[in-house]
Amino acid sequence: MRTRAAVIRKPGTPWELTELELDEPRAGEVRIKFAASGMCHSDEHLRTGASIGRLPLVGGHEGAGVVEAVGPDVTRVKVGDHVVCSFIPACGTCRYCSTGRQNLCDQGAEMVTGRLSDGTFRFHDDSGEDLGGFCMLGTFSQRAVVSQASCVRIDDDIPFDVAALVGCGVPTGWGTAVYAAGVSAGDTVVIFGSGGVGINAVQGAAYAGARNLIVIDPVKFKRDKALEMGATHVFASAEEAHEAVVEMTWGQLADHAIVTVGELTAEVVSQATAMVGKGCQVTITSVGRTGEDHIRLAANGGVVGYQRRIQGHIFGMCNPLYDIPRLLSLYRQGRLKLDELITRRYSLDEINEGYQALDDGELIRGVIIHDS
Ligand SMILES: NC(=O)c1ccc[n+]([C@@H]2O[C@H](COP(=O)([O-])OP(=O)(O)OC[C@H]3O[C@@H](n4cnc5c(N)ncnc54)[C@H](O)[C@@H]3O)[C@@H](O)[C@H]2O)c1
Ligand SMILES: [Zn+2]
Ligand SMILES: [Zn+2]
Repeated sequence: MRTRAAVIRKPGTPWELTELELDEPRAGEVRIKFAASGMCHSDEHLRTGASIGRLPLVGGHEGAGVVEAVGPDVTRVKVGDHVVCSFIPACGTCRYCSTGRQNLCDQGAEMVTGRLSDGTFRFHDDSGEDLGGFCMLGTFSQRAVVSQASCVRIDDDIPFDVAALVGCGVPTGWGTAVYAAGVSAGDTVVIFGSGGVGINAVQGAAYAGARNLIVIDPVKFKRDKALEMGATHVFASAEEAHEAVVEMTWGQLADHAIVTVGELTAEVVSQATAMVGKGCQVTITSVGRTGEDHIRLAANGGVVGYQRRIQGHIFGMCNPLYDIPRLLSLYRQGRLKLDELITRRYSLDEINEGYQALDDGELIRGVIIHDS
């Protein structure tokens, strides 16, 4: 079957729109017809070459759509089901899945190659070259063949554009605050970066009961949005925020610093570490340039003396099979905002325009709406 897709062949080059050949689903696999796909910054890292995956790769890892065909031995979903694709598969049986840590599922090891679990690829170009799908998905394609382990069934009445965001940005951000950081009622929380992921950390921290919810972002539109979504104070720089945090905590500093900037740097990690008090935690969600050091600290005063923790995580430590439906039920109850996250919608062919707008600071989330 033919499918139109946005592909990266070489780092530093724009998304290439092209027709690919898509194989039929094999055992345990399904073919999804995507309706919508969120434009996460992690795909932008592939384009710029900041983080490296096996290329060529079909982009996109935040998708929702309909199951169009199933291979043998598929039990989790059936043809016609509406699904969100989780950016990490959850096999259900590996060491991590079976101990309540589906975000660490062993099947996620092929996220950056896009190989499916039998070690082969389902996308091919006309020269015969194999292409992976980012995160074993490739939601910047009209259709993809994915493992059933990547599929989470959702109710038919949830709109696809908001459902797509619950494949990565929403659980990653919300879970960053609620699970990975473990924000508690009354905490002072500082969030660095209020984009598609960070804005959901704001929602998660507010939900968990943060008293002072401080957001730092150089872009005014992002700061305004953060105030709309639950932030209590916003600042354009870490220096201004640090001064205010000292004052509002009587010098005790924050309970949590959360790092959700677009590209991780050692400077931001140092600023975040200096922002938290004794026995408190810095939680890192952002991804940085491959080959660079992102943590450069004097351990004595900064980490040992203050007994600070630095916690990395993937997918906000969420369990996709449990948390994706749970977040959608909070959305239904009006306790999680999803419609408000979408700044602009694009066709697949407008993808480069969409990522330029992200770079220009104009989007919380852009969403690609695939042709119906
Ligand atoms: N750990 C995970 O599982 C996971 C999952 C998804 C995304 N990510 C990563 O999370 C990061 C955020 O992704 P996103 O889609 O929200 O990106 P985004 O581009 O939508 O948002 C990043 C925000 O950071 C702001 N920013 C940039 N530099 C800053 C600074 N020095 N201080 C404060 N704010 C700053 C930008 O203005 C922007 O609003 C990316 O690195 C992405 O790759 C990680
Ligand atoms: Zn993502
Ligand atoms: Zn697993």
